[in-house]
Amino acid sequence: MSSSTHDTTQAVETAGGLSRRSLLRGAAAAGLGVAGATGLPGGAAAAAGGVPRSEIEPFYGPRQAGITTRQQSYGLFVAFDVTTTSRDALANLLRQWTSTAEALTRGEPAPARPTRVPGARGDSGIALELFPARLTFTFGFGPRLFDARFGLAEHKPAALDTLPGFPGDQLVAAHSGGDLLVQICADDQQILSHAFLQMRALTVGVAALRWSQQGFISPPTDGKAPRNLLGLHDGTSNPRPAKAEFGDLVWADDAATPSWLRGGTYLVFRKIRLALASWSLTSGAEQDRSVGRRLADGSPLSAAAGAPTRTKLDLAAVGADGRPLIDPAAHVRQMHAFPMFRRAYNYDYGFDSTRLHAGGDEHGDEPGHGGHEAYDAGLLFATFNADPRTQFIPAQQRIASNDLLGKFMTPTASGIYAVPPGLQPGQSLGRGLL
Ligand code: HEM
Repeated sequence: MSSSTHDTTQAVETAGGLSRRSLLRGAAAAGLGVAGATGLPGGAAAAAGGVPRSEIEPFYGPRQAGITTRQQSYGLFVAFDVTTTSRDALANLLRQWTSTAEALTRGEPAPARPTRVPGARGDSGIALELFPARLTFTFGFGPRLFDARFGLAEHKPAALDTLPGFPGDQLVAAHSGGDLLVQICADDQQILSHAFLQMRALTVGVAALRWSQQGFISPPTDGKAPRNLLGLHDGTSNPRPAKAEFGDLVWADDAATPSWLRGGTYLVFRKIRLALASWSLTSGAEQDRSVGRRLADGSPLSAAAGAPTRTKLDLAAVGADGRPLIDPAAHVRQMHAFPMFRRAYNYDYGFDSTRLHAGGDEHGDEPGHGGHEAYDAGLLFATFNADPRTQFIPAQQRIASNDLLGKFMTPTASGIYAVPPGLQPGQSLGRGLL
C-alpha cells in the first residue's frame, strides 16, 4: 500500500472520529449492537432471517462468495462494457476491484484510488458506522471479453456463448449482455448502494456501465423458500450445497473447462417481467395447476395439502379421474428434468407513468384506471450452472414452448457470464487469464 493510499484511508477511517472497524470491534467487545453503542437505528440482531447484520461473509475461499452464501435480502446485478483497449488497464481494474471488494466485505472503507482531484476521498463515507451486512461480490466475464481486443480468444470457454433467442423473449439490448458482471448482495440496501458506487468509481476511463438491476427477497418466518411476486414459494427444490450432486450441477471443472475457470461456474441472468394482473385474474386452482404446487403452503399437488414442501414430486400420481395430479405442462414437471441452482431476486420497479394514462389494456381497463401492463415487476432470475448448454438453455426452451407458468413470464433482459473460482490472499481477479 502506498503512503498516499494509507493517508486517504486514514482520513476516511477517522471521519466522524471513529473507524468502522473500531466501532464494530468496540460494540462487539461491549456485547452491544452498534445501535446500542451509537444510538443509530438498526441493532445487530435486527436483520433479515435472524442473521445479524454484523456478520461478515469471507471474501477469500475456493469459490467466490455470493453463490452458496445464504441469500442476502438485497441483490444488485451490474454489467460493464470494457472501453479501454489496454490489457494492462483492464488487469489494473480487476486488481482494484479485488482489493476494494475485499475491504468492503470486511466492513472497511474502500482503499484510496487515483483521482484527478487532489484530496478527493477514496471512500464516499456512505457506509461509515454501518455493519457489513454480509456483503458479497461475485464477478463474471461475458462472452465479448474474449473477442480480439485483449488476446483472450483462446481462453474462451466453449459454454460461454451469448444465449440463443427464445420464443416469447422481448429482450432490451441495453439491459442485456456486458463484458463484466458484478453481483453484489447484502442485508442492507445502503451497504449495497455504497458498494456499487465504489466499484463504479474504479471503472472511470476503463469500462462503462451498461446496465444495473436490483431486487429483494424476504425469507418467510416458517423457514420455507421465499415467496416471489406471484406469491409462490420459489427455490423449494433447489439443490442443497451440502449434497453430493450440488458440485456436479454448479461447478465447471471438467477437462474441457479452461484452467482459469476450473472450479468456477456460469451465471445465467434473466430479467423476467411477470404478468401480475393476469395472474391475479386467474383462479387459485388454475394458479396451483400452472406451477404444480399449492400457493398456500408450497406442497406439491402430488401430495396432500399441507405436506412438507420438500416432499418428493410424484410425477406418476393420478387423481380419481385418472388425470395426472401434476399437470403435464406444470412448471415443476417441465423443469424437473433440468436440475439447477437458482438464486433469484424479486424486483418491483412500479408503474411506468408514461404508459399509465395512455389507454386501456387487454383486461378492459379504462384509461387511467390501472394500466396493468405498464407495471414492471417480476424476477431477476439468476442461476449458477456447471454447463448452461445442458441446464438453462434446454429448460428455457421448454418454458417457452410448453409450460403453463411460462405464459405469465416475459424475459426482457438476458446475459451469460463465466464466474471464475475464488481467490486466496495476494491473488487478484483475472488470475490465470490476464
Ligand atoms: C419469473 C419466472 C419464474 C417463476 C415465477 C418461477 C417459479 C418457480 C416455482 C414457484 C417453482 C416451484 C418451487 C421450487 O422448487 O422452487 C419453480 C421450480 C423450478 N423452476 Fe422456476 N420459475 C421461474 C422461472 C424459471 C426459469 C427461467 C427456469 C429455468 C430456465 C426455472 C427453473 C426451475 C427449476 C429447475 C425448478 C425446480 C423444478 C423441480 O421441482 O425439480 N424457473 N419455479
